[in-house]
Amino acid sequence: MPHDSSPHGSNHTSRRTFLKAGALAAAAGSLPLARSAHAAGDDTLKVGLVGCGGRGTGAAVNALSADPNTKITALADAFEGRVHSARAALQKREPDRGDVPDDRCFAGFDGYQKVLDSGVDVVLLATTPHFRPQHLKACVDAGKHVFCEKPMAVDAPGVRSIMASAEAAEQKGLNIVSGFCWRYHPAVQATMQQVLDGAIGDVLCMQETYLTGTLWHRGRQPDDTEMTYQMRNWYYFDWLSGDFNTEQHVHSLDKGSWAMGDRPPVRAWGLGGRQVRTEMPKWGNIYDHHAVVYEYDNGARMYAYCRQQAGAYSDVSDLFIGTKGRADILGHRITGETDWRYDGPGGNMYELQHVALFKAIRSGEPINDGHFMAVSTMLGVLGRMVDYTGQAITWDQALSSEQLLAPESYAWDADPPVLPDEEGRYPVAMPGITPFV
Ligand SMILES: NC(=O)c1ccc[n+]([C@@H]2O[C@H](COP(=O)([O-])OP(=O)(O)OC[C@H]3O[C@@H](n4cnc5c(N)ncnc54)[C@H](O)[C@@H]3O)[C@@H](O)[C@H]2O)c1
Repeated sequence: MPHDSSPHGSNHTSRRTFLKAGALAAAAGSLPLARSAHAAGDDTLKVGLVGCGGRGTGAAVNALSADPNTKITALADAFEGRVHSARAALQKREPDRGDVPDDRCFAGFDGYQKVLDSGVDVVLLATTPHFRPQHLKACVDAGKHVFCEKPMAVDAPGVRSIMASAEAAEQKGLNIVSGFCWRYHPAVQATMQQVLDGAIGDVLCMQETYLTGTLWHRGRQPDDTEMTYQMRNWYYFDWLSGDFNTEQHVHSLDKGSWAMGDRPPVRAWGLGGRQVRTEMPKWGNIYDHHAVVYEYDNGARMYAYCRQQAGAYSDVSDLFIGTKGRADILGHRITGETDWRYDGPGGNMYELQHVALFKAIRSGEPINDGHFMAVSTMLGVLGRMVDYTGQAITWDQALSSEQLLAPESYAWDADPPVLPDEEGRYPVAMPGITPFV
């Protein structure tokens, strides 16, 4: 259940000890030492942002609002223009705490490393999902506390890397708070707790929908290389976004998984395709609809539907049916043998995540969202695998997959792993033909 009600570790360390813990642990391969003395001097937590887009800039604002003694001290983005726009937005909003000097603004694929080297205490990871495993590992190796946006990876090797990094963070006493923001939403937490406490009996079925219209497209610029074009329009390439069932619908999969106690399903099967994303090369290689059935060991099933098609029925909801009633998670209500409706306080979940993170850093009681964020991400990856191949695939098969969606190297003139043919058409997965790798 809610991260802050479960034991994440019993080491109580002073703030100063805690901030240094990562570096010490990285050097010595050991746990941070527990100390009770209060840290002297400056109480400011220095925050670096990697990925200065819409969500990253929002996360930086959340970090500033959540704790009065935070300061954004370094920024990195693949594109220089994005660094400048985030800096301008933060500086305007918080002239003292959001003003990052030129020499701590970094552009390019290696900018994250420069943020880590700049003396930050906390890193916000909000790039395109593809890079999360690499960035999280680097953060944990460098002993940084992390807020990392969902999804955590786009393929099974990436999920396994996330699991390893989460375990290393646990050993080092570092915080990992995930961007699965509904886990930090008071009304959703309370409703889910009702489900976990048995208010609807045994959960038999979870219906997870994310049916929406279309999203942005950033176009092609005259001097774009193929890598530049795909990086700018990352949403439409499976190697960068994971496809939209992994990028967006993962919020819903995460809620279903939460109700299952974050244990993985046994297997999944499904169907999906491209009906309206036919214009090439505009829409890259992702699908525009997915329907996946996840089968759990106790017979429960999660039916997960997502669609991005303009003009069609829209619905974003999580409805669970159990032996004693029903739960509407986003409606915050239970009906059946027990009728219940949430009437507690509200709150901005995006900000509450950061409140939890900074509180945990300062108290020395770390939060580690690693397990559930890896499982939920893998649900998205598994869903894409079954839809692309048309096969039923077990969890174990999927998690063991060696399919790595990555280029040979990260450079603006390097080839991305997905390339257009002579007519400018990207290869799109075909169920029944595309193999499971
Ligand atoms: N929790 C939520 O509700 C929520 C909402 C929106 C987005 N997100 C997630 O946040 C992430 C970012 O989404 P966004 O909407 O801000 O997209 P965006 O395109 O606005 O921003 C992503 C930024 O990352 C940069 N980037 C990509 N690769 C990079 C690299 N290797 N190094 C440095 N920078 C790099 C891009 O240039 C871009 O500026 C995604 O994972 C998305 O799923 C979460």
